[in-house]
Amino acid sequence: MSTVPVRSVLRGWLYDRLVAGMTTDWYRAVLSRLPDGARLLDVGIGTGAALARCADLVRAKRLDIVGLDIDPDYLARCRAEMANAQLSAQVSPVLSSVYDHRGGPYDAAYFSASLMLLPDPVAAIAHVASQLTPDGRLFATQTFHHRRSRLLERAKPLVRHVTTIHFGRVTYEDDFRKAFADAGVELMELTTLSGTRRSSYRLAVARIGDDSDGRGCTAA
Ligand SMILES: C[S@@+](CC[C@H](N)C(=O)[O-])C[C@H]1O[C@@H](n2cnc3c(N)ncnc32)[C@H](O)[C@@H]1O
Repeated sequence: MSTVPVRSVLRGWLYDRLVAGMTTDWYRAVLSRLPDGARLLDVGIGTGAALARCADLVRAKRLDIVGLDIDPDYLARCRAEMANAQLSAQVSPVLSSVYDHRGGPYDAAYFSASLMLLPDPVAAIAHVASQLTPDGRLFATQTFHHRRSRLLERAKPLVRHVTTIHFGRVTYEDDFRKAFADAGVELMELTTLSGTRRSSYRLAVARIGDDSDGRGCTAA
């Protein structure tokens, strides 16, 4: 009988409590824009809880998803989540860093709360963009802070020591836009999904090439 260490189970449980509740709506917003039968690269799939909660959309759209993550605890939980949601045939969790992954071509790639926690977001955008179809789309959802705060910039990374969850760096719109510009990928849309005076949750859509015939994913 295999025993899963208690710490691994607790990490996955905590992650689902603190992250998946928020990111489920983000996944739903992105998945609903994908064309039927799309091949999607999910960068930083985590425990897969948010994706599993959108199982209806994954099935209805017949999506084919490769989910990358570098955390073995999260991926173990992700495999179980996919089996419980009866998504194992459509979702393949892969233990790999985004920088090492080579696959596709993908119709879309998605960074849900994962882009700006990477050590080199520019390289990640460029590497993933090179694996998209010519009319493919790159999506990202995450929190943006409206005013620069040195205190928050110092405090946010420390949350990891308490929760074991990496929430990444505090992100401002101009830094985010610059990452796409430096990667040579056109940011077409930056929509606010919800927000407060200080911060907002936003959905970004980018493309690698001209899609003048409009065959790409919907960017309403
Ligand atoms: C905040 S979580 C978001 C998880 C999930 N996408 C969601 O929105 O619910 C970020 C995830 O990115 C993963 N990650 C960090 N660095 C990575 C890398 N280099 N390649 C792939 N995944 C990475 C982390 O292990 C973590 O599971």
